[in-house]
Amino acid sequence: MTVTIVGSQLGDEGKGGVVDLYGDAADVVARYQGGDNAGHTVVHEGEEYKLSLVPSGAIRGKTGVLGNGCVVNPRTLFDEIDTLRDRGLDPEIRVARRAHVIFPYHRVLDGIEEDVKSEDDNEVGTTGRGIGPTYEDKAGRRGVRIGDLTDPDVLRERLEYVVPLKRALAEDVLGVEVGEEFDVDALYEEYREYGRRLENEDMLVNAGKFLSDRIDDGENVMLEGAQGTVIDIDHGNYPYVTSSNPTAGGACTGTGLGPGVVGDGEVIGIVKAYLTRVGSGPMPTELAGVEGDTPGYDGDAGEREEELATYIREAGDEYGTVTGRPRRVGWLDVPMLRHASRVSSFTGLAVNHVDTLAGLDEVKAAHSYTLDGEELLTLPATTEQWGDCEPSFRTFDGWPEVDWAEVADEGYEALPEEARTYLEYVSDEVDVPIYAVGVGPGRSETVVRERPF
Ligand code: IMP
Repeated sequence: MTVTIVGSQLGDEGKGGVVDLYGDAADVVARYQGGDNAGHTVVHEGEEYKLSLVPSGAIRGKTGVLGNGCVVNPRTLFDEIDTLRDRGLDPEIRVARRAHVIFPYHRVLDGIEEDVKSEDDNEVGTTGRGIGPTYEDKAGRRGVRIGDLTDPDVLRERLEYVVPLKRALAEDVLGVEVGEEFDVDALYEEYREYGRRLENEDMLVNAGKFLSDRIDDGENVMLEGAQGTVIDIDHGNYPYVTSSNPTAGGACTGTGLGPGVVGDGEVIGIVKAYLTRVGSGPMPTELAGVEGDTPGYDGDAGEREEELATYIREAGDEYGTVTGRPRRVGWLDVPMLRHASRVSSFTGLAVNHVDTLAGLDEVKAAHSYTLDGEELLTLPATTEQWGDCEPSFRTFDGWPEVDWAEVADEGYEALPEEARTYLEYVSDEVDVPIYAVGVGPGRSETVVRERPF
């Protein structure tokens, strides 16, 4: 069977920890979208591993697959594999031949376009990893697929077509002088070598066939989404989105498994007990702000809000895994969760960072929005409308700091009563049961109610 893990907010919900927890019972962990824009931290035997491309399950001896919906930067891939090997691990990684390749020119173009947009304060705040430009080339039918790296003639032909186009775009349209990132010969040599390594290490697969064969053999497959619902290119707040589908539909198109297979399994929505955001775009429940990212924020949102935002940011270590940027912080947005659950058909929820909010007098959650005098229970379809939404909050009693490791040991009933009230409110509103509650960074610091495999 499959278990699909989907971020229900804006990314950084703590998916890695849940994948790690439930992944124990999985034989294969596959990513279906995104690339090295996805930071995940896994704590294993006291050691911390920060990964951006390799699926986290690979640290624990599972087969890690990068599905066809992913965009793969081979430099990052081999860097991560080599670093894990240096630390004594031997990850088994397979890469879909149909996945697309991120080249250095994609990263350069990502940076240039963000610079151009920033002149009018329109930048997305991307991770700068070349994700958007690579998916653009995929959709424009001028991309290079991982399988092409193994065929010298095809690789050269594709590069000879696309690289001059990209150079002209950078230099003639965007007016920026570029360098060896746009040199066909240099790219060919380096990427041909990656192709050889992928072949020599037997890493290449037809993802759909590989995964369905494993399922037919009775194995468990976890489908690991990166980013989150509200930065999904279709269901998110366009244009402040990533360029792929983190929602559950992406698990089908991005692996080659059909909706019958994915829908026959479980789909778990990962929720952070509050909300964070990296980069620009609306965030109706935001507390204070981050200069440069929060639209219109001038560094002063009032003492109380600044204090709360700083408290949560520090307690939750809310700094980007990939970029190190401080994350924007706000209260839980329940209309967002209703939207996420509908799009992905959640069968269970995992709510993380419940410990982070401990010690606050009160905790709030946006129950609905008001837009043009009307109450909305879910996200409006345009980003501009979402930016105009006024949240209506429910206020809950805060919960005390307790021995969270002990709570994790004892189970759900050991959670402070106030925290349970908050969690039950969320579960009722979204109409999905809570499978797990994260009360600390390690996977043992999780209250487990259901095991989906
Ligand atoms: P890109 O994916 O680098 O193109 O960035 C597009 C948007 O998605 C930006 O707002 C990023 O901050 C956001 N984003 C991309 N990856 C992540 C992630 O792993 N966590 C949170 N936000 C992300």
